[in-house]
Amino acid sequence: MDRFRILGPSRLAGSVEASGAKNASLPAMAASLLSDEPLVLGRVPRVRDITTMGRLLEHLGVSRAHEDGRLVLTPRDNGNPDEAPYELVKTMRASVLVLGPLLARRGHARVSLPGGCAIGVRPIDQHLAGLEALGAEVSLEHGYVEVRARHLLGGRFRFAMPTVTGTENLMMAASLARGTTVLDNCAREPEIVDLARLLNGMGASIEGAGDERMVIEGRERLHGAEHRIIADRIEGGTYLIGATMTRGDVTLLGAEAADLAPLLHRLAENGADIEISPDRIRVRGPSEIRPRDLQTAPHPGFPTDLQAQYMALMTQAQGVSEISETVFENRFQHAPELMRMGADIRVDGGRAQIHGPNPLSGAQVMATDLRASACLVLAGVAARGETEVLRIYHLDRGYEGMELKLQKLGAHVERLR
Ligand code: UD1
Repeated sequence: MDRFRILGPSRLAGSVEASGAKNASLPAMAASLLSDEPLVLGRVPRVRDITTMGRLLEHLGVSRAHEDGRLVLTPRDNGNPDEAPYELVKTMRASVLVLGPLLARRGHARVSLPGGCAIGVRPIDQHLAGLEALGAEVSLEHGYVEVRARHLLGGRFRFAMPTVTGTENLMMAASLARGTTVLDNCAREPEIVDLARLLNGMGASIEGAGDERMVIEGRERLHGAEHRIIADRIEGGTYLIGATMTRGDVTLLGAEAADLAPLLHRLAENGADIEISPDRIRVRGPSEIRPRDLQTAPHPGFPTDLQAQYMALMTQAQGVSEISETVFENRFQHAPELMRMGADIRVDGGRAQIHGPNPLSGAQVMATDLRASACLVLAGVAARGETEVLRIYHLDRGYEGMELKLQKLGAHVERLR
């Protein structure tokens, strides 16, 4: 199993290019199931989750090729299964994104239930209730969810909580339903807005993406399209947190500052100096990092996917800070590992109190999930001595060439196989 060896401390400085957003690429790829023409996607990151989605689509009858750095997805003739098997879903919960498109296009889908995962129980009840509101019949059997509908009909649905992939599933299904669908309490993440742009480019009619209410006029068919994926705000944000934490000076290229606003606002409060110009964000870390409390929340709140990295930063702040995780339960698995590196963190349910600053010292630590891995890598860069981060396969699910990007910024990170 691959691991990272990091020799610290290093100050991150220089410029780094943002990769395309994994979480925007996954629904965009699933959208290839909605038409019988090719979909050409630019800036899809080369990370493990994208490979997994590619394999799932292959299984469902969509072939893929890389042309001039773009991903071309071409649906083949029918006769392919309408099923997402357990082997694929268990490694990536986002496989559930094929549910809506398969149902809308083929009238049937069978997807393995994702089950629990390291960051808590993550049900898909809202995806299913939403599809039912469009006329689907839902049944659960043998660990699989099966949905059927001869024709989806436009309807009204209010999400009990904003769910990102749930909203995306419904957007895709409603785009091929008969009539108008009104969705309320939708997720408002930039990835939702990106998916709406793609679907509208395929001929769909979606209004209100980025707001709580979306109105979707169903179409009889959608066509192929070309689309460039937005920059990954979580990946980019990770490097900007690293810049602040190591009192560094990092310029992130190709990123959208508006998408990163919740983080940038927070880093400014921590004392970082932030310069925004079109297509680039420069962050210079302060000599003294000010502690700030934080609560994660759906967009436009502070993203749960940056919570672990932010906790690493707070271990270096001058004083006490408190982080509340409200989106997922059990998402503090990085805390005990940070403590093994010298941090002083007290976890109580969904809240963690971090007493800074404590010098971090290198240690062997274990990555438990995607974002926790990034937190430990940042801690390793800031820590004195050698850190080994085990189980880097979590990191490889979502960070493109992280060791190369960090090396470019001056960190001593190597991958050991
Ligand atoms: C997406 C992101 C993930 C991010 C998360 C929250 C992708 C591929 N993944 O995950 O990186 O951490 O958003 O920003 O885009 N919930 C239910 N019932 C449902 C659906 C969700 O109770 O049917 C709950 C979840 O358990 C969680 C909350 O709603 O507590 C938000 O989850 P959701 O937005 O659905 O996360 P994902 O879409 O899986």
